[in-house]
Amino acid sequence: MAAVSYQVHCDGIDWAALKATLVEDDFDNERTPQEYEASFRNSHSVCVALSEGRIVGTARALSDGVCNAYIVDVWTHSSLRRQGIATRMMGLLLGRLQGQHVYLFTDDQVEFYRGLGFRPQAIGMSLVVGSWLGH
Ligand SMILES: CC(C)(COP(=O)(O)OP(=O)(O)OC[C@H]1O[C@@H](n2cnc3c(N)ncnc32)[C@H](O)[C@@H]1OP(=O)(O)O)[C@@H](O)C(=O)NCCC(=O)NCCS
Repeated sequence: MAAVSYQVHCDGIDWAALKATLVEDDFDNERTPQEYEASFRNSHSVCVALSEGRIVGTARALSDGVCNAYIVDVWTHSSLRRQGIATRMMGLLLGRLQGQHVYLFTDDQVEFYRGLGFRPQAIGMSLVVGSWLGH
């Protein structure tokens, strides 16, 4: 396996390449490259995994920096799964969220998140204001 490095900032990220990779790996949710950049730059913490110059993983956290945080965009490229990449990305994010209540909205990948210490919650509500991404 080629070496994987992890960066916790947005400098040098090719957002069009990220979009293309997510489309190819079937994990794009219709954001434009500019919207991906805004999502990541407006986050409290980000982690991007890189291998041979290509983005192979992402994770980011929204947070008030005090008590509440929310995890989104956790993804490892299909070809590199089960090698600890998402665990490492989540570790780097969670390390910046000490003392905070960290939320997650998913019923996918429960075993992965359980392994990190997350526990299911019985309640939750959500709303998309207007249409998705305003499109
Ligand atoms: C979920 C995801 C991010 C995990 O990435 P990853 O880099 O493969 O995760 P890791 O290698 O760090 O996995 C750590 C552990 O989590 C558990 N795990 C990870 N993927 C799993 C799967 N598909 N089924 C069961 N357990 C899984 C295993 O215990 C694994 O340890 P092991 O490989 O030693 O058994 C990746 O499968 C992915 O990108 N999926 C598609 C996108 C997605 O669903 N993201 C989450 C949306 S909320």
